Amino acid sequence: MFPMTKKLYIETVGCQMNVLDSELVVASLRKEGYELTDSPQAADTVLFNTCSVRQHAEDKIYSALGRLKNAKQENPDKIIGVLGCMAQKDQKLIFQRAPYVDLIVGPGQLHQVPQLISEIADGAGQQMEVSLGRKDGGRAEIERSHESFDPLRDPTMRPTPYQAYVRIVIGCDKFCTYCIVPSVRGPEQSRPPAQILAEARQLASEGCKEITLLGQTVNSYKFKEGERTTRFSDLLNAVHEIPGIERIKFVTNYPKDMTDDVLETVRDLPKLAKYLHVPLQSGSDAVLDRMKRGYTTDDYREMHDRIREWLPRAAVSSDFIVGFCGETEDEFQATMDSVREYRFKNSFIFKYSERPGTKGAERYPDDITEEVKRERNNRLLDLQNEISEADNQDFLGREVEVLVEGPSKTATRKDEADGPVLQLTGRTMCDRIVVFEGNQRQIGETLPIAIYDANAHTLFGNVVTQHVGPELFTLGV
Ligand code: 5AD
Ligand code: SF4
Repeated sequence: MFPMTKKLYIETVGCQMNVLDSELVVASLRKEGYELTDSPQAADTVLFNTCSVRQHAEDKIYSALGRLKNAKQENPDKIIGVLGCMAQKDQKLIFQRAPYVDLIVGPGQLHQVPQLISEIADGAGQQMEVSLGRKDGGRAEIERSHESFDPLRDPTMRPTPYQAYVRIVIGCDKFCTYCIVPSVRGPEQSRPPAQILAEARQLASEGCKEITLLGQTVNSYKFKEGERTTRFSDLLNAVHEIPGIERIKFVTNYPKDMTDDVLETVRDLPKLAKYLHVPLQSGSDAVLDRMKRGYTTDDYREMHDRIREWLPRAAVSSDFIVGFCGETEDEFQATMDSVREYRFKNSFIFKYSERPGTKGAERYPDDITEEVKRERNNRLLDLQNEISEADNQDFLGREVEVLVEGPSKTATRKDEADGPVLQLTGRTMCDRIVVFEGNQRQIGETLPIAIYDANAHTLFGNVVTQHVGPELFTLGV
């Protein structure tokens, strides 16, 4: 007899690391006979893979848990689990705030999820597995307790079948004062190159064309084996050799580790996206110092000049936090000036959210009002949008290579004589989003697109019809 299928509902918030973690959890549960459902009500097991970077992300999970209270009362066998960064940060507090939660698992313990779920189903009661805190032992011991379980992949959970994330660095040691990541994701550790390459090869054999290498500080990658050190640029060269992989991206970069060997590699290897996400966070030296980012605005400028030298046309994007503790209007204006200076392709802008347990929360009061934060967020966003829109006009009349990801979010479908026409979306080599009309068969292909319109976030184009050789014309004769 076949084992009975059970239904799994999983909701993921946060960064690409979490998207990848969810993919791996789903893969491990499918092996136990689980199938995905998009209804938390119908599910036997409901999992939330959570984020702790900002308060708002946590609030959303606690309210989603609140909405499940009745369902759990009606069906006490339904298993509810909280995974990821908030599980690691809040630990037992989650059981206190939502006593009907069955399972709490930190990001370094996700390999235990199937076992823990089966113990709960057998009546073992609430279960919690988290990694050691940053002060709970020796470095090696803490590192081990944060190791991830990457080789298990599930093609159906990927952003698209043609794209996949591969983790290369886990954790973070930079300890920016606002950031909870170093305490919830543990010490910075680079994965062995052999493991990364085996995973990338497996993905290529499954039809994956684009790989995004992940790390909180991805370009800090370094792996020592005896006498041999593999630098980030060495790893990029090795991934580049894998047949079938057409594009390689990597996020997120730490400005101080953007060395010339990395820039040279991005310039010389054709599969590498000409796109660098290197967050500046603030344009003020005083704020960067309070954030303990480890660089000054001059350091960032020097790095950006080198990017322009090696890669004159590359797209650079950034993250910013507005309303960090004590941020004056002048300090905020320095951030506005930096957006004008660097003309980022895009910026992710966040209002500062105090995180208990960070040095920022300990040292400085969260003294910028919500209203000022919101207003600065809007001003910075307006400026960035203006710049993105102006710079995107340069693409008008140009042809770009687009890896087609699938139907666009607002996909419309027209049926024409030669089949259904879909609105498709994909990205250029410099990570710009392109929307155009095409058909189902083009998904997963790399196509030349001529751009005829652009706004701040999107380029619009038409597929360039290829020249067809005369031999094809003779086929029908
Ligand atoms: N408040 C607001 N934004 C934050 N980020 C990290 N921590 C916080 C915080 N406490 C932002 C940073 C980082 C991005 C992923 O999230 O800009 O680069
Ligand atoms: Fe957080 Fe700074 Fe590490 Fe990025 S580099 S994850 S912002 S501590």
